[in-house]
Amino acid sequence: MKIIRASSYQDMSRKGANIIAAQIIMKPNSVLGLATGGTPEGVYKHLIDQYNQGDIDFEHVTSINLDEYVGLNHDHEQSYWYFMQKHLFEHVNIHPENVYVPDGSNLNADQACQAYDYIIQRYGRIDLQLLGIGVDGHIGFNEPGDTFELNTHKVNLQESTIEANKRYFASSEDVPREAYTMGIKTIMQARKVLLLASGASKAAIMREALFGPVTPRVPASILQIHPDLTVIVDQDAGACLPE
Ligand code: PGA
Repeated sequence: MKIIRASSYQDMSRKGANIIAAQIIMKPNSVLGLATGGTPEGVYKHLIDQYNQGDIDFEHVTSINLDEYVGLNHDHEQSYWYFMQKHLFEHVNIHPENVYVPDGSNLNADQACQAYDYIIQRYGRIDLQLLGIGVDGHIGFNEPGDTFELNTHKVNLQESTIEANKRYFASSEDVPREAYTMGIKTIMQARKVLLLASGASKAAIMREALFGPVTPRVPASILQIHPDLTVIVDQDAGACLPE
């Protein structure tokens, strides 16, 4: 595990974008596992800048996103599909047919999850998986539980997740209660994992995830045994990590 300390959110975003840009430069047909949320927004801004400067090219890149709310269509402004279009995809030359997000509009969970695993299998391993972390230690929407769920599955969102995400909705009642998420096996099979964390609310869970016991009660703790994990924390998120 490599921990990079950034001085600010901006610095974390720039450093994170540089790692993704390097991946695309070294392997133009990379399969990226991308993430939504406040954490990666800055990374995507930097990637768009690098694309506009001609430093990176998404022509042959594929993106397989981590998760999606159940019940939201693509055109719903809070769907993760929509987030990815607005924050990255519509600003770069990635081909729409190379972009995958679980189908939240398909309420048949078995079908939606199997279809997503089939897509993942077709591509084999993800080259670089970008992750944020929830205050409860979730990665993607793999919430704390008794076991690590291996494949794409439907989850009931934790109260703390609904609370954290309600800022994007009119009220907490509007936050969907269920989501589809890529499983832990798919995340762990990625060749490289890049975990980002920003802000004081993530400080305690980052310590638990990276230095506590490996347990499905803290899903991100499994990353301790990933052979190629890079973590970037800003000052606040890194405050409880050992020197
Ligand atoms: P955030 O979410 O980036 O909005 O903090 C991270 C997550 O829930 O994985």
